[in-house]
Amino acid sequence: MPNTYKIAVIPGDGTGPEVIREGLKVIDTAAKKFGFKCDVKNFDFSGARYLKTGKLVDDNDIEELKKFSAIYLGAVGDPNVRPGILEAGVLLKLRFTLDEYINLRPVKLYSPDYCPLKGKSPEDVDFVVVRENSEGLYKGMGEFRNKGTREEVAVQISYNTRKGVERCLRYAFEFTRKRNRRKKLTLCGKTNVLTYAWDLWERAFYEIAKEYPDITTDYAHVDATAMWFVKNPEWFDVIVTDNMFGDIITDLGAMIQGGMGIAAGGNINPQGVSMFEPIGGSAPKYTGQNVINPLAAICAGGMMLETLGEVEASKAIEDAVIKVVQTKLKSLAAGKMGFSTSQVGDLVVENL
Ligand code: IPM
Ligand code: MN
Repeated sequence: MPNTYKIAVIPGDGTGPEVIREGLKVIDTAAKKFGFKCDVKNFDFSGARYLKTGKLVDDNDIEELKKFSAIYLGAVGDPNVRPGILEAGVLLKLRFTLDEYINLRPVKLYSPDYCPLKGKSPEDVDFVVVRENSEGLYKGMGEFRNKGTREEVAVQISYNTRKGVERCLRYAFEFTRKRNRRKKLTLCGKTNVLTYAWDLWERAFYEIAKEYPDITTDYAHVDATAMWFVKNPEWFDVIVTDNMFGDIITDLGAMIQGGMGIAAGGNINPQGVSMFEPIGGSAPKYTGQNVINPLAAICAGGMMLETLGEVEASKAIEDAVIKVVQTKLKSLAAGKMGFSTSQVGDLVVENL
């Protein structure tokens, strides 16, 4: 009997459905080739549904999703919905209630042609950001005082628990060991200014490091990290950081690996249901034109298969993507690839 995985698919808004369609095409081919099965069920959580029905993701939806092996998400975002509603009601709701406490974001350059940094090659840009995904400034804690007056104060709290920090750090140490590349883990923080939050992170980091004598540890402030991404990306192997800093540095990371068209990520609950998505958004201006780059979604699908245990299939997908990037595409940007969205999906399938 082949292994069968139950995949919850959330195509979402904008170009989400277009890139997920290509991702599923590639996953289907990999399943046939490597002898496993994916049972797919679609969920229509989206800005479009919210505008029609007022519905976001509710607790029953979460209970239903808990029955799946993994979630595959396109993009959620609609220009007609006020910022904050879909983020909190769909994406963050899923991440938080499914306790996907790690956001794993590889930054890997597949071809020197697509790196905006002069003189950097694929060996130089190959690291992974482990972003804490359940706490920090994303916790939504804070308040207004004297709202709407001249005396107004807006407070937004970065909430860091010892348990939350520790489970993230442990994941990062284990990941660095398993990756087995340079065996170096860099803590990216801001100990010089954020002296409560980063004191806890730093103490926990060096305490846990004692259990991992084979891992070299390093520390960099987040502003310096941004500088090193551009100047010396080859210094990094694995970076661990909080939710907000991780959000920011992974957009910069996406740019040095060739742009949003190729950047994939996974929201991981190591004991539960994980969710995989391209890092880019719903790209409303490209919707329905068959011009968006599906490779980020395809790579996210590959990460999903790896997490499910289909390591060979995942590796084959990455190799096929590398081949297509190196030998076929004119650009990784929407509308400039020299191929349509569906043709890029076909090229990956042909190279699988
Ligand atoms: C990301 C996105 C989200 C985040 C937004 C859409 C809430 O930017 O996945 O990086 O800030 O985490
Ligand atoms: Mn982001």
